[in-house]
Amino acid sequence: MSSERSSFTGKIGFVLAAAGSAVGLGNIWRFPYLAAKYGGGIFLLVYIILSVTFGFSLMVAEIAIGRKTKLSPIGAYTSLDKRFSFVGWLGALIPVMILPYYSVIGGWVLKYLFGFITGEASSMAEGTYFGGYIAKAGEPIVWFLLFIALTAVIVLFGVEKGIEKVSKIMMPILVLLTLFIAVYTIVTLDGAFDGLLYYIKPDFSQFSIMTVVAAMGQLFYSMSLAMGIMITFGSYMKKDISIEKSVHQIELFDTGIAFLAGMMIVPAVFAFEGGNVENMDKGAGLMFITLPQIFKTMPGGTVIGVLFFFMVLLAALTSAISLMETVVSIFQDKLKMGRKSSCFLVLGICLLLGIPSALGSSAWSGVTLLGKQFLDFFDFITNSIFMPVVAFATCLFVGYFIKPRSAIEDEVSLSSPFRGRLLYRVIIRYIAPICILTILVSSVLEAFKIISI
Ligand code: PFF
Repeated sequence: MSSERSSFTGKIGFVLAAAGSAVGLGNIWRFPYLAAKYGGGIFLLVYIILSVTFGFSLMVAEIAIGRKTKLSPIGAYTSLDKRFSFVGWLGALIPVMILPYYSVIGGWVLKYLFGFITGEASSMAEGTYFGGYIAKAGEPIVWFLLFIALTAVIVLFGVEKGIEKVSKIMMPILVLLTLFIAVYTIVTLDGAFDGLLYYIKPDFSQFSIMTVVAAMGQLFYSMSLAMGIMITFGSYMKKDISIEKSVHQIELFDTGIAFLAGMMIVPAVFAFEGGNVENMDKGAGLMFITLPQIFKTMPGGTVIGVLFFFMVLLAALTSAISLMETVVSIFQDKLKMGRKSSCFLVLGICLLLGIPSALGSSAWSGVTLLGKQFLDFFDFITNSIFMPVVAFATCLFVGYFIKPRSAIEDEVSLSSPFRGRLLYRVIIRYIAPICILTILVSSVLEAFKIISI
C-alpha cells in the first residue's frame, strides 16, 4: 500500500490541503460563540497559548506518525505498536460522529445563503428568526440533506480537486471580507469598540477550568487534531518538506481566521446586547443571529451577505469533504468495500445520526442525552471526551512507548533542524498528559453533573 501512496506536489500543496481541512465552520461558527460565552479575552488568550504549545506539538506528532508509516491512522498505530491500535480506531470513530452534525450546521449556512439570495435578508436579521427556523421540523432537514448530498456527490465523483482549487482562491477573499466586516462593525456600531476590548483584553476574573476545557476542545476540533486526520495528511507528505514549518503555517492560518471571525462577531453581539456580558451566551446560533444584523446595518449588506455565506459554505464544504473522505477510506480499507458502497454507507450513517441533530430544536427537543440536545451532545462527546482521550493516548505513545523513543523527533529532523524540539518534548511528555487528563476528568464530572464548573 505504501508504495502506491501519492504525495502532495510542491511545498505549499501540503499546507494548503491541510489548512483546507482545518479551516471551516470550527473557525467561523464555533470559535466566536465559545469566545463570547467564555469571557472573551480570557478565552482568546488561553486558546492562543494552547495553540502554540499543545496544538503545535500534537500536530507535529500526528503528521510525523503519518509520514513515517505512510499508513492511515488505524494501520499507523497498529504497525508501530499493536497495543495502541485502539487509538487509531477511536480516532476513526470521531469523524463519523462529527460529520452528521457538521452537515446540519452546513445546512444552516446553505439556508442563509439561499435566504440572502432570495431577498429574505431583512427578515433574517430579526432576533427571533434563527430560533424560529430551527424550531421547524421539516426545513432544517431539507438543508441538511442538501449539504450532505453535495458533499457526497463531490466525494463520489472525485471532484474534490476542483472544489479545493476554487476554495484556495476564495480563502484569501474570505479573510479580507471578514476583516472588512469586523472593522466596519467596530467603527460604525455604537458600543462595538467596547466589545472589541471585551474580546481582546483578558479579564482574569472570568477564568475557570471550563475556559480551558472549552478552548482545548476547540483547538482539537479547529486544527482537525486527535482524530487521525493529520496522520492521513502526513502519510501523503514528502520527506523533504519541513513538518515544523508546515505546522507553523497551518497553525497561523487556522488561528488567524478564528481570531478574525471572533473579531467580526463578538464585538457586534456585545454591542447588540448593550454590553451586558451575562447575555453573551447565545450558543450555537450566534453567527446566524449576529451576522444578518450586521449586514442589515451595511450599505450593500445583502450582496456582502451573499458573498460571505458563499465563502463560508466553501470553507465548510472543504472540511466536510475531508471528514467524509476519511470515513470513506476507513470503510474501504477495513470493511474491504468499494468506494461507492462505502460512500453510501457513510451517507446512511450521516442520515441516521444527523436527522436527530437537525430535529433537536423541534420535534425531538424533548429528547436529551446527558441533558443535551443531540447536536450539542455529539459536539460535546467528540470534543470534550473522545478527542482528549485520543490526544492523551497519542502523547503517551509518542512520548514514552514508541520505539525508538526519538522516532518522531528523528522524522521531523529529516527535512530541517527541529527548532521546537525542547518545547515539543516537554509538552508531549509532561505538560500535555497532565493537563489533558485534568480536563477530561473535569468534563466527565461536569457532564454527569457531579460537579458544576
Ligand atoms: N477543522 C474543521 C473546522 O474547524 O471546521 C472541522 C473538521 C474538519 C474536523 C475536518 C475534522 C476534519 F477531518
